[in-house]
Amino acid sequence: MPTQSVTSAHKPQITISSSPREASAGLAASIAEAIRDRASQGKTYTLGLATGSTPIPLYQELIRLHREAGLSFRNVYSFNLDEYYGMSPSHSKSYHHFMRNALFDEIDIPTEQWHIPNGETPRNEIGRHCQAYEEAIENAGGIDLQILGIGRTGHIGFNEPPSQADSATRLIILDPLTKKDAAPTFGGVEHVPNEAITLGVSNILKARQIALMAWGEGKSEILARTFNMLPTPNLPATFLLKHPNFSVYLDRAAAQKLPPNLTCQPL
Ligand code: PGA
Repeated sequence: MPTQSVTSAHKPQITISSSPREASAGLAASIAEAIRDRASQGKTYTLGLATGSTPIPLYQELIRLHREAGLSFRNVYSFNLDEYYGMSPSHSKSYHHFMRNALFDEIDIPTEQWHIPNGETPRNEIGRHCQAYEEAIENAGGIDLQILGIGRTGHIGFNEPPSQADSATRLIILDPLTKKDAAPTFGGVEHVPNEAITLGVSNILKARQIALMAWGEGKSEILARTFNMLPTPNLPATFLLKHPNFSVYLDRAAAQKLPPNLTCQPL
């Protein structure tokens, strides 16, 4: 695989904070401003949302802003990246369940305005379901801001390597490393689903703005590889380097192996 410094036309804006909480507070403040700005014009704001441990401090801060600063989500639409396949929305490990607990049940977003792929879609209807999900995003005016974590395989959403830049919403087989990382949550790797429905790389890249967050030393290696490589299907997160409005929020542990030539903004 070719390894060299980032040569894409757009350098990502990288912000390194002393803690996930501090980084998330900055991002949450800009989301709140965008939501309020749209509301003042009578318009909606569409978020692309992620699951996993990474976005939890962001969701906690958005909940705090809702409770303590009157931030309303009544004009917000949201579309989650992915859902485990074969899993009912009510299952305690489903991303439906996660999102209700982590955010939706704590804010005033109307139920009909948040969307997550249905992990119980019959196999012969998956193509249609994925197409309908993409159409719903288009009908909502496209995603204004896509929130992302990164997996140690370099996946974004569940776009495991190899995933092409033009990949669409689809069923995907989870990488063994992804399953290993999910094993503690499921009480053993044998309980982790084999498949998931995920937005494709092409859908993610259509967002008008992208914010990738990563915390901790465990993510430092994959981040170093991502920012040292030309875009490649073998590390799907590298396709983000092509996006003109791509921001990265890291804590110091996650940032420790980044190439020194990247422009970073320490807080
Ligand atoms: P994590 O997962 O937030 O639980 O680390 C991130 C991802 O796999 O995208």
